[in-house]
Formats: sequence, structure tokens, C-alpha cells
Amino acid sequence: MKASCRAGSNIAFIKYWGVADAALLIPLNNSISMTLADAHTTTTVAWDSSGILPTDTIVIDGTQLQGAPAQRIVAHLDRLRALAGVSHKARVLSKSNFPMASGIASSASGFAALTVAACAALGCPWDASQLSAIARQASGSASRSLFGGFVEWERGSSHTSSVAHQMRAENHWALRDVIAIVSARAKRVSSSSGHRLAATSPFTTARTLCVADWLATVRHAIAERNLSLLGPILELDALAMHGVMMTSAPSLLYWQPGTVAVLHAARAWREQDGLPVFFTIDAGPNVHLICEAETAPTIEKRLRALPAVRQVITSRPGPGPQLLDEHLF
Ligand code: DP6
Repeated sequence: MKASCRAGSNIAFIKYWGVADAALLIPLNNSISMTLADAHTTTTVAWDSSGILPTDTIVIDGTQLQGAPAQRIVAHLDRLRALAGVSHKARVLSKSNFPMASGIASSASGFAALTVAACAALGCPWDASQLSAIARQASGSASRSLFGGFVEWERGSSHTSSVAHQMRAENHWALRDVIAIVSARAKRVSSSSGHRLAATSPFTTARTLCVADWLATVRHAIAERNLSLLGPILELDALAMHGVMMTSAPSLLYWQPGTVAVLHAARAWREQDGLPVFFTIDAGPNVHLICEAETAPTIEKRLRALPAVRQVITSRPGPGPQLLDEHLF
């Protein structure tokens, strides 16, 4: 009744922003991401079949969650209990090796690790695609962290068809995500609330129309390992998504001065110094610089020299969730 799992976060090249079905968490568009090897969450779940545990106990990065913050995780445990036909309460302990809620998708790795560990501890025979659908209901981006390497989440039209699949394994392309942390504070508006606001932006329709073409280009760029094809689309969709965020009602402005400083620096390094590097940004102030392995040390060094940058984390493409023999308790 106990299992542990490590799952990587992921960085989206084509973003998920906005829902077609808020209850099922079916997105407006397909999204494509790279699973990260070096930004991950480890979670141990133990189900209490003795009935002694009165409530679920959830400890994340050393803090026991109470009330609303615990609710999202309890809701996911409820979903898993309903699917498995059990009523046991669970003890959950989880830790991530990167700052949470700051534009590195901790919910992606967190809910992927929780789903895999919890299902393994229950002995459920579900495959990665079924687990992807289950994780999606807790956090959309978690559906993609069920797979390693380069991953596409099909929008689909039902619970079972809105799932991710692997496009290419992690060893297909030695890309790096060099993450510039300009603020490690938790964001004020969660992605979950932001998705519902996307419908209020006049730019959502335009972005959704463009995404079909961008997806085709990104699929091709990944297959061909072509960064000069991937990079401009990466930047375009990040800016389009933040355009949607900024023009929704209420307006969401995740950028900080440090965000803009890194964007200008990255463009100058590319346009003036010829470094093949491109940016993307999730729902937070931190900037992800995507480049090939050989360029990463130069980018890291230059980022560390910028006053706005507090920390630099570099990640390789990573595998899908791994069940672990060692537990956190
Ligand atoms: C901007 O709904 O997966 O990272 O609310 O934190 O679970 P949480 O996030 P999620 O939205 C992620 C949005 C995004 C873009 C993306 O990863 O596709």
C-alpha cells in the first residue's frame, strides 16, 4: 500500500492556456513540451487500509498542508479512491528540487508523481495513457509529465481522448532548458484560475487559430532537431500566451523587471553575438532559455552575470516517471 515515484516537470514549447471544458480540463489546443530531468518532484504515498488515519495527511517540502492548499490534493486523492473503489485515507510526502509556483511547473511534476505513486500503491493496472488522463484532471500540464522526452498532449474531446503521448524519447535531442530565476516567490494568480480567464481575452481566438500552424512547425522542428525552426515559434507562442494573459479580465501580468531584462539579454546574445538561444516563459516571472547542450555553459555564465538573476537551473530532457525502491518515510 506504499509506493514512491519521481517525475520531471516539463517546459511547454506550445503552451496550454485556456480550457474548452473546465470540468474535464480539456484544453483549447494541443500543447507540446519537453520533460525535464533536473527539475523533479519525488512523492511517497501510503494508503491506510487499517482505517486508523482519520484524514489525508499531506506534507510538501516540509510543510504540512491544511485547508485550501490541501484541498486540491485531497480532491485528486478522492478521484483516485473513486476509480479504485476504496475509501482509505493516504499519507503523502513530497519534495521538489526547485522553487514551487514560480513558473517552473511544480504542479506538473507534483501531480504526475502523486498519480503514479498513488496508483502503484493501490496496485492499479493503468497504463501511462490512462494515468495521463487521470493526472490531467488535477493539473493539465501534469498529463504531459507522464511521458519522457518530447511530448504532445492531444486536446481530444473526452476524458479518455484528452491525453499526452511521447513524440520522441529524451535521448533524441540534447536540448537544454536554462532557467533564469528572477523571483522565487509564489505567484499571486494560479494557472488554474488563469485558464478560466483566457476566454475573456480578445486575443484567445487569434492565438488558438495560429497554434495549429505552430504545432505543425514544432513537430517538424523536433523531428529534424532544428533549433532555428523551433526557436522563433517558441518565443512567438510564449509572447502570444502572455498577450492573452495581459489582456484577460482581470489582466494577469506575471512579468517582473527581471523578466524583461533576461528577454532583452537573450535576444542580444542571439542577434549580436550569434548564440543560438530562444526564450519561453510559463505562468510566472522566470525565463526559460532553450538552447543546445554545447551552448548551455555560455548561457549559464552570462545569466549569472545579470544583476536580475538570482539563480540558474539547467535541465536536460528527462525520462517519464520512475517508481523508486526507496521511500521518503
Ligand atoms: C503556462 O494548469 O498545468 O505552464 O494550475 O499550476 O496546474 P497548474 O498549471 P497548469 O497550466 C500550465 C500552464 C503553462 C503552460 C503549459 O505548461 O502548457
